[in-house]
Amino acid sequence: MLLLVTIFITYIILQNTEEPIRTIRRFAGTFGYLTVFLAIVTSEYMAKMKKISGLPFMKAHHNLARIGLLLILIHPLTFVLQGRGIGIFSPISPTNIFIALAGRPAFYLFFLAAGIALYRKKYKDWRKVHYLSYLAFSLVTVHALMLGDDFELAIMRILAIAMAITVIVIFIHKRSASGRKRK
Ligand code: HEM
Repeated sequence: MLLLVTIFITYIILQNTEEPIRTIRRFAGTFGYLTVFLAIVTSEYMAKMKKISGLPFMKAHHNLARIGLLLILIHPLTFVLQGRGIGIFSPISPTNIFIALAGRPAFYLFFLAAGIALYRKKYKDWRKVHYLSYLAFSLVTVHALMLGDDFELAIMRILAIAMAITVIVIFIHKRSASGRKRK
């Protein structure tokens, strides 16, 4: 199933190849988005089957997060390679409305959410910050729907909305489960 989705999306991206660097940008953006989605889905199973059976999901979560972050880093770096300067990394676009470039704040939120997890022993409340990845995911959905070329296609819009709904459901489920634990 996953392989089919990957082949299908690669096909869509390759349908519209202009400059190679733009193709790389779209590839990194779209696959970064999908990889982060899978990292969030695996985290749901990790929580469900803690202990021994949850371990493969934990490994998958960490590996997907690593790959996702690498792709997320490559995506704006392609602008720098095109000579746009590192201003592209400024958290909010100076010329565009915030919402149209929701990708910039999302970029930092993802790195913050992942970074805090590395120091989870030190910061007991790290999970609260880690949950920012859900906000980042929602922002990227807006970003992709508003700016993406591939996301002009109905099937890709449906995919983005389905992923966003899944992520919101996982978030609500996790919050309610952790609330029950605290009681
Ligand atoms: C500094 C941060 C970011 C900047 C400046 C940025 C910029 C852009 C721009 C300008 C586009 C339009 C397509 C193009 O011109 O090639 C785009 C598309 C896209 N971005 Fe970002 N982005 C950023 C962060 C992110 C992040 C964190 C993600 C999450 C994975 C992401 C995912 C996407 C996706 C999925 C598309 C649609 C690709 C397509 O179909 O063409 N972006 N981005």
